[in-house]
Parts: sequence; C-alpha cells; structure tokens
Amino acid sequence: MSLLIKNIKELLQVRESDISVVKGKDMRVLPSINNAYLLIEHDTIVDYGSMDDIQNLEADKIIDASGKIVLPTWCDSHTHIVYAGNREQEFVDRINGLSYEDIANRGGGILNSAEKLQNTSEEDLYQQSAIRLKNVIKLGTGAIEIKSGYGLTIEAELKMLRVIKRLKKEFPVKVKATLLAAHAVPKAYKNNKTAFVDLVVNKMIPEVANEKLTNYIDVFCEKGYFDLEDTERILKTGREHGLIPKIHVNQFNAFGGVGMGVKYQALSVDHLEQMDLEDIEVLKNSDTMPVALPSCSYFLSIPYTPGRQLIDAGLPLALATDYNPGSTPSGNMNFVVSTACIKMKMTPEEAINAATINGAYAMGISNMYGSITKGKKANVIITKEIPSYAFMPYAFGENHIEQVIINGLIY
Ligand code: NIG
Ligand code: FE
Repeated sequence: MSLLIKNIKELLQVRESDISVVKGKDMRVLPSINNAYLLIEHDTIVDYGSMDDIQNLEADKIIDASGKIVLPTWCDSHTHIVYAGNREQEFVDRINGLSYEDIANRGGGILNSAEKLQNTSEEDLYQQSAIRLKNVIKLGTGAIEIKSGYGLTIEAELKMLRVIKRLKKEFPVKVKATLLAAHAVPKAYKNNKTAFVDLVVNKMIPEVANEKLTNYIDVFCEKGYFDLEDTERILKTGREHGLIPKIHVNQFNAFGGVGMGVKYQALSVDHLEQMDLEDIEVLKNSDTMPVALPSCSYFLSIPYTPGRQLIDAGLPLALATDYNPGSTPSGNMNFVVSTACIKMKMTPEEAINAATINGAYAMGISNMYGSITKGKKANVIITKEIPSYAFMPYAFGENHIEQVIINGLIY
C-alpha cells in the first residue's frame, strides 16, 4: 500500500538527516518545502521533495493537498489520559475561590480521582480512556506518553498500566507508559508518608518493572507531595530496575527537583512553572529535556513555564498537554501550540519544533517520530486550506486539521 500526497502548499519539519532534538537558536528554524510532495509506503515515509522534481511516482492512493499544509503529527510526551470520571465540581469550587491546594488538602484532587479509579472496572476504565485517545488522535496526536498515578495501590496501579498496554495494542499511535506510583500520599498513609515510599520502592517498582508494563518512572516532586529525599529514593530504585526518570517538578515550588532529575539522568523534567537560575544552569550540562505544559498553566491560572528564558539559554524545550482530570482536562496539542505562542512568547517555529521533534525526544522515540525524514513513521497532519502555518497558532481555538495519517493510513 502506497500513498502519495501531492501539491502540498508547504511541507513542514523536513529533516534530511535524522536529528533527535533541536535546541536554543536552532528552535527558530523550521525547515520546509513549498509546493511539495510526500510519498509513503506502508507505514513509512520513503520520499519527499518539490513538485518541480516529482518523477512519475506511482501510488495506490493519491491525496491532492493544494492549499494545505502537511506536518508531522504532534508528539504529546506528558499525559494522564487513563482516569475514571471527571472533576468538574472541583473546577466550580476553584471558580468560587478555593485553590488547587485547598482542594487537595480537603481530600479532593488526586485522591478524589484515585477513589474513582479504584472503584471502576478495568473494562470501563479502558472504554473511558479509549474515547479520549481517539479524540486526541483526531486532533493530530500521533505519539503519546501515558502515566499511571491514579491508582495509589499496587492493584489499581497495575490496572491502569494494563489499560495503557491495551491502548498500545488496540491503537495505531505510538504509546509509551510511565509508572507514576508516587503521585500523592494515599489517605491510609496520611501520617506515614515514609511507609508509602517504602511500598513504592520495595514493592510497586519491582513488581511493575518485572511485568514489563512501563518504560519510565515518574514522581510528583512537590511540597505536600514528595520531597527531594523521597524523589531520590524513587528515581534510584527505578533506575536499578531499568526505568528512566521523567518527572513532575517545579509546578508550584522550586527546591532542587530539576537537579535531582538531572542527577538520575532524567529523560525529561516537566512543568517548570517555577524556575530558579540554578535549575537552568543544571539543565545546561545535561541531556534532560525541559517540558512545558501551558494548558495546565491556563486552566489553573498559575505562571507559565519561562520558555523564552530556557530557549534563550540555549536549551531545548518540549511542549505537552498534561491531559488529566484535575489540572488540564484537555488533550488538544493545537491549543498547547497556540498558548505557547500567545502566552510564552514562543515563535510558531519554536512551538512546532517543541511539539514534534522535541516531544518525540522526551519520549525516547525521536529516531522514528517527530519529523519528515525518510525511514520515519508516516504520521502526518494535513491541514485544511490555510494561509500559512503561523495561522494555526494565530487563529486559536479553531480546528485547522482536515486529515490525520497514522502509519500511512487515514485515521
Ligand atoms: O501534572 N501535578 C501533578 N499531577 C497532575 C495533576 C493531577 C491531578 O490534579 O489530578 C499534573 O498537573
Ligand atoms: Fe502531569
């Protein structure tokens, strides 16, 4: 099966050599070809170029993309899409004056979602999550990381991870799983957090790693959740079991979580709404990807990650949704890209690099995803007829996507 997309107004993120990450000033560059074609065979990009140079290419199916832009699908490197039910009451409570912290302190928040999830069957949890995944694919996401973390018991965490495994099997998009065992201190351990961290390191991590249900280890390193010492124990144990850290840090407070991530060679450190100069320095000497989650900042009305400062310091930056029921009930990467431009002052080129190739890096898959490169997976977005790619973030809140191709097939 072959697919030829021709007369493409502009083909974006064309990388001849197989780059894996884009940093600093290079993020301002988004290589493209005007009036282009793209040839796909089975699930792989095999050729592309200018329509002026098109030979007599044959294909089983031809799409005419006149007036439309083609780009790699979004790589969403941070989500919690496996969850049960919703938390719209907490949303209303926040409108009426409570803070995210107030809600957590009275037993809501993550604990609320954990209770719902514990009382939901695996089948129901799968069905709820599959609807979300289907919707985000239609919004252009072609690779996604999904975290556990609403289980808070071994049984419920395993249930979440099995659901992620089933999504991986049933859907054509790339799915990466992360064990977020330490997301909040469960009610039963309220006065004995250390005992819960003991459970995480002595039982949860070994068992989950043994069942090969996860690629990464995560922890919510934050005041009122898990401190630096807990984080270190969890990352160290994760590493010993072959799990690479991808962690929640600096969402509300900066106290060295970034450095701890870097110490354990985290693939990414995510959130970063609160950053110290030290955090930026420590990232400079690392291969760790900083990840910003602007729709979380939008929804909670908290500061945006200082993306400008990070990029201007020569660092890379990835953008992800953080799709979850508490802080970001949205998995729309188009909104993320727009919000990064509007609120974080990233250029469209920087935002698209951050949401494609750098997102792929933050999932350890940039050798196969995140750019238009021969040999990479044929996951692309075909837009509607739009005047330019800057129009996508500019005309925010509107769906500019006409078709999504996953593994060479129209989704
Ligand atoms: O990334 N900050 C920690 N975890 C999620 C929110 C979890 C929730 O509120 O349910 C986040 O924002
Ligand atoms: Fe998160």
